[in-house]
Amino acid sequence: MSCILELKNLGFTYGKDTPFEKRAVNNVNLKINKGEFIGIIGHTGSGKSTLVQMLNGLIRPTDGQVLLDGRNIWEEPKKIRNVRFRVGMVFQYPEYQLFEETVYRDIAFGAVNKGLTGDELDKAVRKAAEFAGVKESHLEKSPFDLSGGEKRRAAIAGVIAMDPDVLVLDEPTAGLDPMGREILLSQIVNYHKMRGNTVILVSHTMEDIARVADKIIVMNKSELVAFEETKSVFARGDMLSKIGLQVPQITNIMQDLKQKGFDVPDGVLTVDEALSVLTPMLKKEGA
Ligand SMILES: Nc1ncnc2c1ncn2[C@@H]1O[C@H](COP(=O)(O)OP(=O)(O)OP(=O)(O)O)[C@@H](O)[C@H]1O
Ligand SMILES: [Mg+2]
Repeated sequence: MSCILELKNLGFTYGKDTPFEKRAVNNVNLKINKGEFIGIIGHTGSGKSTLVQMLNGLIRPTDGQVLLDGRNIWEEPKKIRNVRFRVGMVFQYPEYQLFEETVYRDIAFGAVNKGLTGDELDKAVRKAAEFAGVKESHLEKSPFDLSGGEKRRAAIAGVIAMDPDVLVLDEPTAGLDPMGREILLSQIVNYHKMRGNTVILVSHTMEDIARVADKIIVMNKSELVAFEETKSVFARGDMLSKIGLQVPQITNIMQDLKQKGFDVPDGVLTVDEALSVLTPMLKKEGA
């Protein structure tokens, strides 16, 4: 697999050389491959948003480098805009960034800036709207007439319409109701499957990350503490609880069963997986 993003000794300090100096990301080294679905977890204030905002050049590292396809994204600072088209960023609460007259124009905004026009632009907007679950009948509405969840989808569609090679989403499901979360998450998974690009998802919800991510970046107090396959991160329950995180509930239940002597495997991450392990056991028991 080829590497798309590499972080080398990456660090960021807010308010450097002022009394408010705050080290937010410290010496992060890792490589992300093309097509991977990466989850980022960590306690509040651990540096997740600062880290992802460096990936598309929104903030410039105070030390170290971000390499996109092997090239330092700040090599030519004037061309940093091009990086923002390739690494698309959906911020936490992106609905506050909608400002155009119609949802259609809002979704088109980034793609227009990228240089798309005419049919190509129209296709990109409609396809992105479909991926993000924006109804066609909403495209001519004002974004301010949409519900919270619908606004969120429109903002996500705007980033997808730029067709980025890497899609970064910072807490995309925060504040949505469980149903809205579920639907949005499956739309992101579906987009990743169809488009085959790299997706980086920051989330506080372990259940969500466990279901969708191939690998997980664990941040704690500005440091990278783990970057491993999802199963192996959630097999380290002790490490996670030390830094204030939890394994998914179902993983805990399965761990308890194992400790009670049941023959169940480690690293069960989803209810579906648990069902496929437990159902045959229960059937046998019944027989
Ligand atoms: N603009 C800023 N100026 C000064 N300090 C900041 C700024 N933004 C963030 N910080 C500090 O940097 C550290 C990392 O913040 P960051 O927002 O990256 O964390 P996070 O992991 O995204 O947190 P959350 O889970 O709450 O979104 C925190 O201590 C935070 O208070
Ligand atoms: Mg954050």
